[in-house]
This record gives sequence, C-alpha cells and structure tokens, in this order.
Amino acid sequence: MYTIKNIAKKLLGSKNIERISNYRIKRVLKKNFLNDYKLYNKHSSVLIQDTYHKIEAEITLRYHSLEKGFLHNPIRYRFAKKRVEELLDYLRFDDVNGHIKNVQIQSAILNLCVYYELHLKNNINISDFFSKEEYEQLKRNLLINEQPVKYHTSSDYFNFRLSNFEQFSKSRCSVRDFTGEKISLEIFQEVVELANQAPTVCNRQGISVNIIDNKDKIDEILLIQGGLKGYSESLSQLIVLTSDRSYFHTIGERYQLYIDGGIYLMNLLYALHYYEIVACPAHWGLPIEADIKAQKIIGLNESEKIICLIAIGKPVKNFKTTLSLRRSYNENLRVIN
Ligand SMILES: Cc1cc2nc3c(=O)[nH]c(=O)nc-3n(C[C@H](O)[C@H](O)[C@H](O)COP(=O)(O)O)c2cc1C
Repeated sequence: MYTIKNIAKKLLGSKNIERISNYRIKRVLKKNFLNDYKLYNKHSSVLIQDTYHKIEAEITLRYHSLEKGFLHNPIRYRFAKKRVEELLDYLRFDDVNGHIKNVQIQSAILNLCVYYELHLKNNINISDFFSKEEYEQLKRNLLINEQPVKYHTSSDYFNFRLSNFEQFSKSRCSVRDFTGEKISLEIFQEVVELANQAPTVCNRQGISVNIIDNKDKIDEILLIQGGLKGYSESLSQLIVLTSDRSYFHTIGERYQLYIDGGIYLMNLLYALHYYEIVACPAHWGLPIEADIKAQKIIGLNESEKIICLIAIGKPVKNFKTTLSLRRSYNENLRVIN
C-alpha cells in the first residue's frame, strides 16, 4: 500500500494527489449532508405529522403561545384564536387520547381550560371558536392542578443564585420583561468569563458572545427573528451567540458548532442568572436568508453561524414567566441493557 501510494505520488505529483483526496472528502461530505437532509425530511414534521411525537411537538408549539399570551399585561382577550382552534383539533386525534397523561398534553389541556375560564370570568364571548362542551370535555381530562404562569418580584427572583445546583437551576426562567436599564461592560466581562467555562470539543472554543447595544440594530434583528413580538419594547441589549465553522475539521463534526453552541448557551444563561441579569433565549431556527441579513447588520463573517439570540436586562418589579412544565423522567429516561 505504501509503495502504491509512493508510485502514485511520483506519477501524479503531490498537488494532484491532494486534489483527488479533496474531491473524495467533498463527495463524502455531500453524501452525509444529503443523508441528513433525507432523514430530516422523513422524520421531522416539516412535511407531514404522522406520529404521536410530531403531533405532540405541534401541540406544544401552540399551547406555548397561550402560555406566552397569559404573560401580557393587560391580557389581549381572544388572543391566539387560531392557535386555540388548532389545539382543539389536535386534541381530538386518537393518538393523543392514548397519551392523555403526558405532560405536554396535560399542559395543552391546562392552558385551554385557563383560557376558557379567563374569558368566561371577564364576560368575553369566545363561543365562535371554543364551546362550553369542548371546555367541559377538556376539564374532565385535566389531571394537573397548576397555574399556567409563575409570579415573581425583582427582589425574590434571584434568591437562589448562591444556592445548591438543584435550587439554582430550578430558579432560572425565561424572563421577557425588562426595565430598559443597560448592563455595564464590566459585568458582561464577568458573565462571559464564567460562561467560557463551558466545555467544547477538544477545547476548541469557537463561540462568540456579541452584545448588540444599539436599539435600531436590535429591532432590525428581532424583526427578522419574529419570536419576541410584544416583549421587545423595553429591550436595550441583545446577545447574539455565534459559533464559527472555521474551528471544525472533519465530516463527522459537521454539526459540532451547534452542539458546542448549545452547551455554551446553557452555561451563559446560568452565568447571566448568577450575575442577576434576566434573560430569554430567542431561537434562530431560520432559513439561510435570515443569516445573510443578520450577518450584514451585525458585521459577522460568513463562517459564523448564529446559534441563538438572548434578550437580556434588569427585571421589572413584578413579572410573570410561563409555567413550561417539564417531562418527568418516566417519559424520557431509557435504560439499555
Ligand atoms: C433555543 C431556544 C430558543 C427559544 N426561543 C424563544 C423565542 O423565540 N421566543 C420566546 O419567547 N421564548 C423562546 N425560548 C424560551 C422557551 O420558550 C423557554 O425556554 C421554555 O418555555 C422553558 O421555559 P423556561 O426557560 O422559563 O424554563 C427559547 C428557548 C430556547 C432554549
């Protein structure tokens, strides 16, 4: 093998050998991305919702809109009407009835019941899209006793910032209300120093924390993102977390930038909580055109991928956060023998 390689090198020259090798790598890379594309097409709900998990994800997306709607002060009555209609339709699926105890289904039922009761209490007619019979049927299936929002004050929210990990991590929530007061560069330096303790593949550390300190730019980016509508008025600083493709070098690492970025994101959220900064991550699951537009606004290199936005600030005196119930381990812990 060694001699064949040497002979080939002599005959073709090392430049051509390198070209052939690069061509091979490109083909494998293409094949892998194509395979990812096929699997995503087949198993995500982009095209079709044909399994319980896909339907559950659609339900979650919609009940989360209701949870977020309950945060507004004052409540915008009849909000998310289309979401309510769609939720009621999804909850009629046979597949869903077989999973009625699952936390996401219970959360959906809870939010719909609270939605109905809120409108009833305030004499707002919603019978054109949500009937009394539908409500009563849901109420019979509601097995949890919770409120869809959590109430906080600025003085109690950080009570557990120095507590043990369980209390600390359970005390962090996504907060969407800010005073508008800016956080100083010195504090950001401390936050990033702590967040930088996040592990990355081979310690490559290809993540950057970009703090947008200009309201016009923040508004432009949020307009592209679209997920923080109604909460951005008092937002005066926004983090754009990016991961740089230049740090990754094998075909197998093609998604490592997202893994490192995700791990960093969580550590950053905890670092912000530790430094008494409230935050709400805002997804960047957007098509490529969004990245191109944002790159120009922020001045990013093409090699950099936006992982997530994080709205940040100081907490207002009284604020609400979504309940966002979590699964119990019996829904997602598997032991493989
Ligand atoms: C990657 C990511 C993207 C998110 N995007 C948004 C968003 O666009 N808008 C929003 O209001 N919340 C967003 N959230 C916040 C989630 O809704 C929230 O984390 C979830 O409901 C759990 O609630 P908690 O963070 O209060 O525990 C995002 C969270 C993550 C981790």
